[in-house]
Amino acid sequence: MNNQWRFKGNELKYVKDVLDSGEGSSTTGSYNKAFEELFALKNNAKYAVTFNSGTSTLHAALDALGVSYGDEVIIPPITVYSNFAVTIAANAIPVFADVEEDTFNICPKDIERKITSKTKAIMPVSLYGLSCDLDKIMAIAKKHNLVVINDAAEAHGATWNNKPISEYAHVTSYSTENSKHISTGDGGIITTNDEMTAKRCRKFGSMGYSLMTADEGRLRLNKEVFQDPTYKRHDGFAYNYRMPEVAAAVGLAQTEKYEFFIELREKIGQHMREIALTSDFLIPQKKIDGARNTYWTFAARMIRSDIKWQDFRKKFIEFGGESIFACWALTYDEPIVAEGIFKKQNPALYSNIEYKKSDYPVAEKIQPQLMQFPLNYSSYEESQPQLDALDKTLRFYE
Ligand SMILES: Cc1ncc(COP(=O)(O)O)c(C=O)c1O
Repeated sequence: MNNQWRFKGNELKYVKDVLDSGEGSSTTGSYNKAFEELFALKNNAKYAVTFNSGTSTLHAALDALGVSYGDEVIIPPITVYSNFAVTIAANAIPVFADVEEDTFNICPKDIERKITSKTKAIMPVSLYGLSCDLDKIMAIAKKHNLVVINDAAEAHGATWNNKPISEYAHVTSYSTENSKHISTGDGGIITTNDEMTAKRCRKFGSMGYSLMTADEGRLRLNKEVFQDPTYKRHDGFAYNYRMPEVAAAVGLAQTEKYEFFIELREKIGQHMREIALTSDFLIPQKKIDGARNTYWTFAARMIRSDIKWQDFRKKFIEFGGESIFACWALTYDEPIVAEGIFKKQNPALYSNIEYKKSDYPVAEKIQPQLMQFPLNYSSYEESQPQLDALDKTLRFYE
């Protein structure tokens, strides 16, 4: 598996265009805007705003939706470290809700159990390409007056009730880091249908410039005004999380082929699923009617206790497979959390926070079982050795 095949559309042409224009920043060039417009269209959203990662998107979304000092944000323990980190960065308190054994996604029932008077937001993750339960989560949010940020870093093109997931949460966040369905090298993009939320996200990622609007990241002002010593720029607390124009040029070209990239992974993922189902011990992520799983990776639980996880992986590679990734360590087991390192960010706020493994029995059970098979292949044919290797590995252990 290599990545060169992924950049065979208009990427070079658009990048050259940026370099020829000399307008390399989103504050002056036009590619960020073009990328945002096409991405919003493909995801049936009113607004899209680009960022330099699918982590900074989440940080901006928390701020844009009003999460601040001491608020609680509910997140799953099976996810990348980003969800925890941005919650701390927002001076808020990460509260874990357990996951579901069959979907691997956050459990709505446990979300409801974890709600307190301090809860402000739910940040579910749509893992591996399968949407979290957006009906239940949005209903809980409505009932308790909470905001929802769907971390769909891995779920480009996914649906819920046959509708694009971008139609549900207050903000939906996507990553365009290199392993994702579309790549800008590193990068991220949010979608929302609310103009004020889009504007706040953009301002948070662009230095809090007063001129930013929901659909315009370029700074267009008469030089007489902004070159004047009395001119004031910043009216919101913010960072610089902007996506460079070169990356946005790649993003636009990638989004032109959005369906192609998504359908390719989906097809390979579905075949892996069929092969897994010929065994009774590699249990794929649940299939849900109306929820299109777009298979960032094919994820499954290997439930045989007599087979070591590592041995299964070795066998798969012996049979010509390329790699199997394990699930991340549960976030609360990472040293940054388990050793309390994060508390230094704000001792007054975090000194009493402890996470108990016994509160997350499902995550504890499935984390050691999970296997992720990468699906980043240029064609179904190129993925064939992976499918064969999986089949042979399953037959070997029958
Ligand atoms: C579920 C999830 N959330 C957030 C991120 C963060 O995205 P990025 O690497 O673009 O910061 C990733 C990917 O790394 C991810 O898989």
